[in-house]
Amino acid sequence: MPDQPPPEPLPIAVLVSGTGTNLQALLDTVHTREARVVAVASSVAGAPALERAAARGVPTEVFPRAGYSDRGARDETLADWLHARGARLVVLAGYMELLGEGFLERFPGAVINVHPSLLPAFPGLGAIEQALAYGVTVFGVTVHFVDAGVDSGPVILQRAVELPDARTPGDVLAALRPLEHALLPEAVRLFARAALRRDPEHPRRIVIDG
Ligand code: GRF
Repeated sequence: MPDQPPPEPLPIAVLVSGTGTNLQALLDTVHTREARVVAVASSVAGAPALERAAARGVPTEVFPRAGYSDRGARDETLADWLHARGARLVVLAGYMELLGEGFLERFPGAVINVHPSLLPAFPGLGAIEQALAYGVTVFGVTVHFVDAGVDSGPVILQRAVELPDARTPGDVLAALRPLEHALLPEAVRLFARAALRRDPEHPRRIVIDG
C-alpha cells in the first residue's frame, strides 16, 4: 500500500486581546504542521499578540468594539474577515470579548476557548483571582467549545495542578501557563484530525476518538 499523503493543515484563526502567549504556543507547535494560523484578530489595537503574529507573517486585523454600532455589527465584520481568510476553526486565546449567536452560527461547532480554571468553577473575568479568594488548593485549565454563555460550552480538555502554597495570581499563572500552552495546541490537533465528537447520549460530553 502506498503511504497516505499527510493531511492538509487545518486553517485556523486566533482571536486575542493581550499578551498572546497562547497564540505563541500555537505558532510554535501546530502552525504549519497540523494547522495553519491564517488570521489573527484582536479586540485591542497594539496588543503584543499582534506582533507575535506579524513576526510569523500571519495577517492581522483589529476589531475594536467601540468601532461598531453594536456587538452584532462587530461580530459580522469579524466573521466575514475570518471566512475570507479561509478559517475553519476559531480559537479564542485571551480574547476579552463575548461573541454572539450570530458569530457562532457562522462557525458552527468550530469555536474553542482556553480558560484558566477548572470549569464550571470560576467562569468569566478574574478566574485565578476568584479561585484564590475561594481558597482552593487545586487549580487548573479548561479548553472548551464556545457557546453563547460565559465559559459554559462543552469541555474538551482539562488539567489540574495542586498549588497549596500559591498566594498570588502570579504564583498561579506561572503554574497554569505551561498547562495552557500544552492543552490548547492539543485541542487544535484533535479538532484538525476530526477526533472530537459529541456523545449522542449526552451532548455536553465530548468524546475523543483514538
Ligand atoms: C490566558 O490565561 C487564558 O486562559 C485566558 O486569557 C489568558 C490569555 O493569555 N483566556 P495570553 O494572551 O495567551 O498570554
